Amino acid sequence: MNGWPIVGWATFAVAAVVAAVLGIVGAGEPGIRMALRATARTSLAFFALAFVASALRRRWPSDATAWLMRNRRQLGVSFAVSHFVHLLLIFALVGWSWAAFRAATPTETRVMGGLAYGFIALMTVTSFDVTAAWLGPRAWRLLHVAGAYYLWIIFAQNYFAQAARSVFYWPYAAVLASAMALRWLPAPRAAGARVDLPRSRAVRS
Ligand code: HEM
Repeated sequence: MNGWPIVGWATFAVAAVVAAVLGIVGAGEPGIRMALRATARTSLAFFALAFVASALRRRWPSDATAWLMRNRRQLGVSFAVSHFVHLLLIFALVGWSWAAFRAATPTETRVMGGLAYGFIALMTVTSFDVTAAWLGPRAWRLLHVAGAYYLWIIFAQNYFAQAARSVFYWPYAAVLASAMALRWLPAPRAAGARVDLPRSRAVRS
């Protein structure tokens, strides 16, 4: 599977997860909270894949990493879809009332969460050829790099704090920590390059 159908399948998968949770647990507060946690996790999966695509491709050139690299925009938009569902569930939790939302969430959460959704919206609308060209490569890169790091911080703030309290959160914290390490630790370019040398091919054959 390649290109925009990925976003269609991602939407279907996230909707199926939410429907299953609400169907089994019920559409009251416990069900909505569980669906919120589920969509945070589907979001993390899409986000992490888009976040590490180019670092993985540099380190381990293969069909799988080429696929990731080719489809990272679609994975980013799939993350946005998943997190839009998270937003819908937030409003469902407070009975679709802005006043109840304000009362239930501290100002700091609204500002930091609002900024995250601002980045998600801008990154999504600039994920298409026409809008990306309109923005220009420098501004596009600035927006997408700043947005990705900011979103990583919001995920980390949540999952690292929970990992300090429960081992069940260690896998999510580990995904975030490894994603950041992959982007920052130097890639073993020389080792990758040797694979393509004619001499090494001759040795293998
Ligand atoms: C104003 C914006 C937001 C609000 C009000 C909000 C609200 C919530 C709520 C109510 C939960 C469920 C808590 C529970 O009962 O366990 C939750 C979970 C979570 N949200 Fe959001 N959220 C917001 C934005 C975001 C953003 C932007 C991200 C990440 C980029 C995010 C990531 C998470 C994570 C990681 C969890 C925890 C999942 C877990 O415990 O497994 N949220 N959020």
